[in-house]
Amino acid sequence: MDKNVTVTALDPDSNVLQPESLPLTGRHLIEASAGTGKTFNITRIYLRLLLERKLDVKNILVMTFTRAATEELRGRIAREIRNALNNWGQFDPEDSYFAALTRQFSLQDVYPALHNALLHLDEAAIFTIHSFCKRVLSQQAFSSGVAFNVQMEADTADIELEAVRDWYRRLTRQADKYELLVQNWPAPENFRQAFRDVLSSTTPVQIKSPEVILENFLNHKAFCRQHMLDNQSLVFAALIDTHKQQETRTEEWEILQKWLDQSDIEPMPKAAGNVFDGRRYGRDADKKQRLTESFAPLKQLKEDVGAIEQRLQNARSYQLAALGIDAIRSKIIQAKQRARVMNYDDLINQLAASLTSTPAREDPLSTPLSELIRGQYPVALVDEFQDTDPQQYAILKAIYQSSCTSEGSYSAEGSYTPEGSQLAEGSYTADGSVASSSVTSGSVTSGSVVSDGVANKSF
Ligand SMILES: Nc1ncnc2c1ncn2[C@@H]1O[C@H](COP(=O)(O)OP(=O)(O)OP(=O)(O)O)[C@@H](O)[C@H]1O
Ligand SMILES: [Mg+2]
Repeated sequence: MDKNVTVTALDPDSNVLQPESLPLTGRHLIEASAGTGKTFNITRIYLRLLLERKLDVKNILVMTFTRAATEELRGRIAREIRNALNNWGQFDPEDSYFAALTRQFSLQDVYPALHNALLHLDEAAIFTIHSFCKRVLSQQAFSSGVAFNVQMEADTADIELEAVRDWYRRLTRQADKYELLVQNWPAPENFRQAFRDVLSSTTPVQIKSPEVILENFLNHKAFCRQHMLDNQSLVFAALIDTHKQQETRTEEWEILQKWLDQSDIEPMPKAAGNVFDGRRYGRDADKKQRLTESFAPLKQLKEDVGAIEQRLQNARSYQLAALGIDAIRSKIIQAKQRARVMNYDDLINQLAASLTSTPAREDPLSTPLSELIRGQYPVALVDEFQDTDPQQYAILKAIYQSSCTSEGSYSAEGSYTPEGSQLAEGSYTADGSVASSSVTSGSVTSGSVVSDGVANKSF
């Protein structure tokens, strides 16, 4: 959990969200399940931002996950504002939210701000993460390092496939590697299909190397060798010494020992496998159990050795694929730069990279991108973070967490700690009853109110 986020949406006494008292500064995470009033409360916080912080609709960033959801949100905000304008002073006395607002403001006070907001609601900054990134990258092209005249949201499938083809072509010169590659992915199309998401991501590729797989196998073999020596007297007493085929069985034991002594991946000889053939354990349940337990690591080893060659071969081809992915990614980046195009994912990756990489501070007077965005949108409301998209959180965190000093170091701004930390059980539901979730608090920085519909999300 990010220690600067206050996961505090519930009133500690009633366990019900109190949109009238939620602080309008700091970073807040609201955890609530589906249909429990997250969007409802976002519209109420929005109204407070118009009235208490006197913000313009252009300057309240609202983010949600689909275009349809942005339209729904716009409609619900409009309804909330209209409701406030039409009914100011005549609200249900039970509604503590409007009771608190009407104590603070008269209709005369609120009319200009609300009327103005309604008039300009089509300019409200209500975006999906993609449309937000696109907007920022277009407006702040220079600060975000985007080349002039770039076509955004372009379809880059052809560029990606061509980069994969190019790598395949180059690999034909190394027959053994090419063979390894085409065993798993016969054509560039298969490779692109298999690694589509990986190719468009920037996260380093991690694979289990053949060397590690081999080392783990040999370690297990060495362990089994010692383990069987430790269990030798049990095995001899139960299966060999008193048996009429004592001699054959002793030989089998020796074959097993010899095989275990070899630090290689040769298959286990059949005679060695006979030593722990379950049909020999007899009927005595206790004896059977002790033998089963003693031989368990060996049975596992027999399975492993049967599959090791295939696993190593597979690991080799993935190792090669990982190298390919690095090469293809660079190729794709270059080709996109040349063609001046960015696809859907690039919008997010580019903004995240521009915000999180240390800027080359050639001009000490230039304003960092995060500050420019924060200047335009001093507050952000996010209606449901996308679980699948850690970049979205990284972007918002970079904008609302840090301020950049001229030396280029980053520090929290305007941080404060709410009194005490609370732990409560209970989540808000539309009818005001209480289900379950948790509330904690920590220090927060200025700027954003963040709402999240995903329970138990950790940062
Ligand atoms: N405090 C409240 N008082 C009256 N009605 C409420 C309250 N909170 C929510 N509602 C109503 O409950 C319904 C569900 O609320 P809302 O759409 O805000 O939930 P949500 O958590 O955003 O749902 P989803 O997970 O589907 O996005 C709506 O009709 C809303 O108007
Ligand atoms: Mg909702």
